[in-house]
Amino acid sequence: MSNAPVNNGRRRFLTAATAVVGGVGVAGVAVPFIGSWNPSARAKAAGAPVEVNVGKIEPGQLIRAEWRGKPVYVVRRTDKTVADLAKHDGQLKDPSSAEAQQPEYAANAYRSIKPEFMVALGVCTHLGCAPTYHQGDFGEKVEGVSDGFFCPCHGSKFDMAGRVFQSVPAPLNLVVPEHSFPTTNTLLIGVGQGEA
Ligand code: FES
Repeated sequence: MSNAPVNNGRRRFLTAATAVVGGVGVAGVAVPFIGSWNPSARAKAAGAPVEVNVGKIEPGQLIRAEWRGKPVYVVRRTDKTVADLAKHDGQLKDPSSAEAQQPEYAANAYRSIKPEFMVALGVCTHLGCAPTYHQGDFGEKVEGVSDGFFCPCHGSKFDMAGRVFQSVPAPLNLVVPEHSFPTTNTLLIGVGQGEA
């Protein structure tokens, strides 16, 4: 199951790994990849949870973790980004997260536990490509929306809660994995809120 105990050595390593993350977030710029944590094959098969230190993520910055072989995007949303989420519901396919693409505790306006942090699989719900993060220039894709995700394969577009826009091939919002915050700065991917 996904609630395997977290190895303290790995915890320290991840803390160090995330501590060197710099300010990144501009479209087209490579984002840090927190994939160096190397669980055993057995742990991988069991879908071991992945711990991420979110304390060093800058406002607007995206980092990538890896969980069960899939990329997980973690973004520290700015206050403006959070406020903007309420402004384009009419352009979305599933603005209220009616489809079961997230745990129940994330079926809210932010699709997350904390409005500040977006946590979603970086896997397009059309055919599985990796959407790219556009910070500040997403208006070129969706007029009036400054930040979002664009899938380069067939042009699907998602907002900063991973909600898919209308008139694109992706049918569903990005998947929000089970996650929780055991401490203020610790994100645990793979263990749901209340399960830790
Ligand atoms: S895989 Fe993303 S739009 Fe087709």
